[in-house]
Amino acid sequence: MSSTTTIVASGELGFSPALPVTLPAFLEFMNNDLQQEWTHLKFYLYHSAAVTGINAVSYRKFFEEAAQGEMQHVQAFIDRLYGLNFANPVQSSSAFSTFTNAEDAMAHAIELEMHVVENYAKRLQQLAQLAEAHPVTAKYLTIFYEEQLKDSYEDCERMRRIMANDLRQIMRNTRHDPNKFLAK
Ligand SMILES: [Fe+2]
Ligand SMILES: [Fe+2]
Repeated sequence: MSSTTTIVASGELGFSPALPVTLPAFLEFMNNDLQQEWTHLKFYLYHSAAVTGINAVSYRKFFEEAAQGEMQHVQAFIDRLYGLNFANPVQSSSAFSTFTNAEDAMAHAIELEMHVVENYAKRLQQLAQLAEAHPVTAKYLTIFYEEQLKDSYEDCERMRRIMANDLRQIMRNTRHDPNKFLAK
């Protein structure tokens, strides 16, 4: 087993900036990112039906629109993977937490988006390493990931603003770590 295969098999924890990333290894990371996009799509779609409360109508609409945005992200990742001859883009999401309280669902959505923003920042570092062997592909994927990072970063920003008062309350009342909700 090559050292590159070991990096892929061990996932994000195995990512080492010191080891160069190959294109096949990078496509595996991309496929993991696609799974997160499926997770976001299903999270928003589920909560567009599940949330309750006095503001549920507004939140349901918000989640429905967020799901539509995620559908485009899923499509974009599948297009890129097929475009780069990746045989089997993932078709399923990861398991996700569910909520009936709309504000709790929104707070968790901020965490989900922050998580992918951090992954995409990591991908951009990896693409800088890939540029020597694959200058054009790495350049194109850099633009692609910058757009994905921007979308998720701005989703976080918007949700944090909408939730400014509720987040303070949620952080007081629950075990939530305030750092989970802040931009890094
Ligand atoms: Fe998302
Ligand atoms: Fe997304």
